[in-house]
Amino acid sequence: MSETKLLIGSDMIASKDMLNPFVHHLELTSTYDKFKTAFFTIVVLPVRIVAILILLFIAWLLATIGLTGVSQTELSERPLTGWRRYIRRWICFVGRSAYLAGGMNMVIKGVKASRREAPLLVIAPHSTFLDSCISYVTGFPSIIARIEDGLSPWVGRVINFTQPVYVRRDDPESRHNTIQEIIRRVKSDQDWPQILIFPEGTCTNRSCLITFKPGAFYPAVPVQPVLLRYPNKLDTVTWTWDGPGALKLLWLTMTQPTTTVEVEFLPVYVPSEYEKQNPKAFAEGVRNVMAKALAVPTADYTYDDCRVAVKAGQLGLPMTSNMITVERLRSRLGLTRIKIEDSALVKNMLSFQNRESQPVDLAEFANSLNVTAEDGSLVSLFKMHLENEDLSTIDFKKYLLAEYILQKATSKDDLIVLAFKLYGEYFDKEMFEYVMNLVYNLPKSEASVIYNEMTDKPNEIRLADYLQYGKKYPEKIESLQNHSKNSAPRTVTDFSSCGQSFHVPTDDNKKYQ
Ligand SMILES: *[C@@H]1O[C@H](CO)[C@@H](O)[C@H](O)[C@H]1NC(C)=O
Ligand SMILES: *[C@@H]1O[C@H](CO)[C@@H](O)[C@H](O)[C@H]1NC(C)=O
Ligand SMILES: *[C@@H]1O[C@H](CO)[C@@H](O)[C@H](O)[C@H]1NC(C)=O
Ligand SMILES: *[C@@H]1O[C@H](CO)[C@@H](O)[C@H](O)[C@H]1NC(C)=O
Repeated sequence: MSETKLLIGSDMIASKDMLNPFVHHLELTSTYDKFKTAFFTIVVLPVRIVAILILLFIAWLLATIGLTGVSQTELSERPLTGWRRYIRRWICFVGRSAYLAGGMNMVIKGVKASRREAPLLVIAPHSTFLDSCISYVTGFPSIIARIEDGLSPWVGRVINFTQPVYVRRDDPESRHNTIQEIIRRVKSDQDWPQILIFPEGTCTNRSCLITFKPGAFYPAVPVQPVLLRYPNKLDTVTWTWDGPGALKLLWLTMTQPTTTVEVEFLPVYVPSEYEKQNPKAFAEGVRNVMAKALAVPTADYTYDDCRVAVKAGQLGLPMTSNMITVERLRSRLGLTRIKIEDSALVKNMLSFQNRESQPVDLAEFANSLNVTAEDGSLVSLFKMHLENEDLSTIDFKKYLLAEYILQKATSKDDLIVLAFKLYGEYFDKEMFEYVMNLVYNLPKSEASVIYNEMTDKPNEIRLADYLQYGKKYPEKIESLQNHSKNSAPRTVTDFSSCGQSFHVPTDDNKKYQ
């Protein structure tokens, strides 16, 4: 029972077989639950909302007062002192009252360490926006926030009052700067607030702890692990991307009589000498302690890995499909988030139909995607699109084609049809073979056979030909789909950090066999 293989990176259709903590299924099934929700919606919800709004306004007012007369520079350079600091306690009180007004009952276990003992608080598992209650339980520590959040006139004020460390996504140095700033504060002699970090960086459904980002562990100072549990019969809080949205969760949570959140402060974790030198090992050590206390397994993958795997599942493609390999590489490069290709796509949309290729070499390719040409994932991505080994350029339009189909496809849309449509509903033979290889990993020779079965024309195949063939021989299309399950992708890429095993830290945990 101690090891269940996580199937990312092996030949399985991923989402069926792998544990995916980014899902949350929530439906009110029993009539009683529905009735209760309806009743609370009418009778209790309005009162709760009004009370929360008033309390939030008071919190905002307190933050505004606390920030009056403090310049932005002072705020980021020195800890607040004196009465301003005192106001933090009131904010904590008001914040907790707001949660209470919403029906959240907070249970605290263990004792919070002081800044001297542990300058950093490491919070996990992160499963919902409601986790922000932890700020009010821990005396309003500094948080790591996106600068966009700080700009909002309401929430931004309260965030600014925590003296946050801001992350600027558009700044390539951001990661480095954030870590430097965290180090500066935790090592400072000044009495900065503690820093609160959710090391998973994204919400899961608490069924396991995913990879901790090393940011909190670079300073190599003691940290206090803090656990969050929601021991409720109906889980109305979990906010993952494959699950109900924030508003629905808020509504369902506030229409429960009460919702419990349990905060447990674990003993301070002091890194060993080795861990001080190796932030990743330090992160791993802390994660193991937390996983053990929670009695859940750890899973070595990140949000991006899982997102790709789920997409593969939705599209009915195996993880070995070239298409999915492309997506994983893009995801590694951060391209799935910054959407730089979108503008390239828009620019090129019309030119697809003129069929001229748009050759780019590695440097130009890197440049158009705004990535350095040295990046291993970029090189693999480039190689995947090289039609033969002797060439030194790829067709940028073909690259965009993959990106287009992936974005456009929902559920089990026929990817080949989407590709046809982008190209004005017909391909030449070479392009057809290319697409068959991209989607189904079909070698040129086999694609050529199929081509000849679909059309008599020497160098033109229409969408209609393809569809007609599919109608006539549905089993042949199915066997194409089967083909990619059993074939190796175009280039074998190193995904070693994806395909890892599922560790179960405790033996008495029978839930995850
Ligand atoms: C949370 O994720 C696990 C692992 O994939 C899954 O088995 C479980 O059903 C999920 N929980 C909910 C409530 O969806
Ligand atoms: C919060 O601080 C940021 C960065 O210092 C600043 O740009 C922003 O205007 C502040 N937000 C509010 C609401 O004062
Ligand atoms: C490309 O990256 C640089 C920094 O790496 C950034 O300043 C620039 O805005 C990016 N360009 C686009 C179009 O995203
Ligand atoms: C494709 O695979 C499925 C199961 O994986 C199988 O039931 C089906 O018969 C296969 N179809 C063909 C045409 O090989």
